Amino acid sequence: MKRFLGLAAVSLFVGSLSCQSEEEMKRERYITEGILIYKNNCANCHQAKGEGLAALYPPIAGSDYLANKQEVYCLIRYGQRGPIVVNGKPYNRPMPPQPQLSDLEVAELVTYIYNAWGGEKKLYDVKKITAALKECKSPE
Ligand code: HEC
Repeated sequence: MKRFLGLAAVSLFVGSLSCQSEEEMKRERYITEGILIYKNNCANCHQAKGEGLAALYPPIAGSDYLANKQEVYCLIRYGQRGPIVVNGKPYNRPMPPQPQLSDLEVAELVTYIYNAWGGEKKLYDVKKITAALKECKSPE
């Protein structure tokens, strides 16, 4: 019995290890894709390191706006217009919507942004992002 319990404990332990590393592999895959998607769709304005451009385009790296996660998901898909404040500085230029990005691509992008620039080590799974995107109020 004791031996059996020992085995069960070992297999539970191994099970949770492999499960963790699957999630970890997925996170890394999302980040790799996210880097490319960022370069192709976002870097023109927000710049390669997410540093933003003068008073025109706000930084994403270290942006306090990243705390508004639901808004970030929605603005990636639907764009954003009207005045906003990022790290204490005002911005007011329209960001165009990005309808070319699938839910998966938004999830990869969001995973990249929060891991590279938001101080997180976390996977934003496409299932979670699809559900969140359904909650966006699509502007007009
Ligand atoms: C044509 C330029 C342009 C492109 C391309 C663009 N943005 Fe933006 N983005 C802006 C502007 C301008 C704002 C500020 C909007 C406002 O003033 O209401 C903004 C705001 C943001 C914000 C919220 C504020 C902040 O900096 O934290 C995030 C996050 C963001 N953009 C992410 C992205 C991502 C991710 C992409 C690529 C899919 C992208 N943007 C593509 C111009 C752009």
